[in-house]
Amino acid sequence: MSETEQQVISKQRVAQHGEVLTARREVDAMLDLVKQETERLDSRFLEPACGTGNFLIAILERKLAVIERKLAQQEKQLKKAEKRPGWKSLFYDPNSLVAVGSIYGIDILQDNIEAAKERLIEFYIENYKRVVEVDPDPNLLASVRFILDKNILLGDAIHTHESVTVPGVPGLDEIIFTEWSRIGDEFKRREFRFDAINLDGQEASSKTPVQRNLFGEIDERYSQMSLFDEDSVEPTADILKTDTGKEIYKSRPVKDYPLVHYLHIANGK
Ligand SMILES: C[S@@+](CC[C@H](N)C(=O)[O-])C[C@H]1O[C@@H](n2cnc3c(N)ncnc32)[C@H](O)[C@@H]1O
Repeated sequence: MSETEQQVISKQRVAQHGEVLTARREVDAMLDLVKQETERLDSRFLEPACGTGNFLIAILERKLAVIERKLAQQEKQLKKAEKRPGWKSLFYDPNSLVAVGSIYGIDILQDNIEAAKERLIEFYIENYKRVVEVDPDPNLLASVRFILDKNILLGDAIHTHESVTVPGVPGLDEIIFTEWSRIGDEFKRREFRFDAINLDGQEASSKTPVQRNLFGEIDERYSQMSLFDEDSVEPTADILKTDTGKEIYKSRPVKDYPLVHYLHIANGK
């Protein structure tokens, strides 16, 4: 572990919230197990007890590194005349928003949420200046902040609102996550209830899916998360049949927004 890594903030936080942050070496080893996914820009990751974002930052780093490599390839292929001022931003900006929009976190402590978002934005800016070699457009940064505000949320990832242990913290049935999808230079935004989001590989017919949640407890409702695609056990979902006859749950969005240009994402509400 590096000397600057602090895994325990206080004994009280460990006792109350089980807060022991994961060291970078372990984060990298775990992410290597799903390396291909961490390098796919739109592959979605949720850390349901994200702390200060140790996994989220490492995932963002990996995804932005992919964009950097693609940019370097383009630079070699483009002729001098084709490299008009700003060409790097035109490629980097929307792709980097796909990467930012693909990471999600929940934590029960507000200071962790703020710290995670701050780390992510700071890393984004620092990386942007190094790779794109200019300062990011303020509108782009507003889009990044807006997406992070929608994706990294205060909440209790175990309890419903009636049984949350920390007053004022939304229960898992009150958490709304946003799906971001890029279509050219525009983004589609749809909102889903967290407790209606799918849970990977869960067929409609499977009555007793069992899996351990992030805290090691058995959660009867959820299997491994795969955000937004299909599979929900909530009534906010439809049951669809695939061409092989398998029944799957398809979450229904609670809200759907018009397409918006990537520099104007923050103009939405
Ligand atoms: C073991 S730490 C892990 C933090 C981070 N995932 C990491 O690996 O560095 C557990 C985190 O879960 C949070 N937490 C505890 N109970 C929670 C709950 N019911 N819902 C959401 N987060 C919770 C704590 O605040 C703490 O940040």
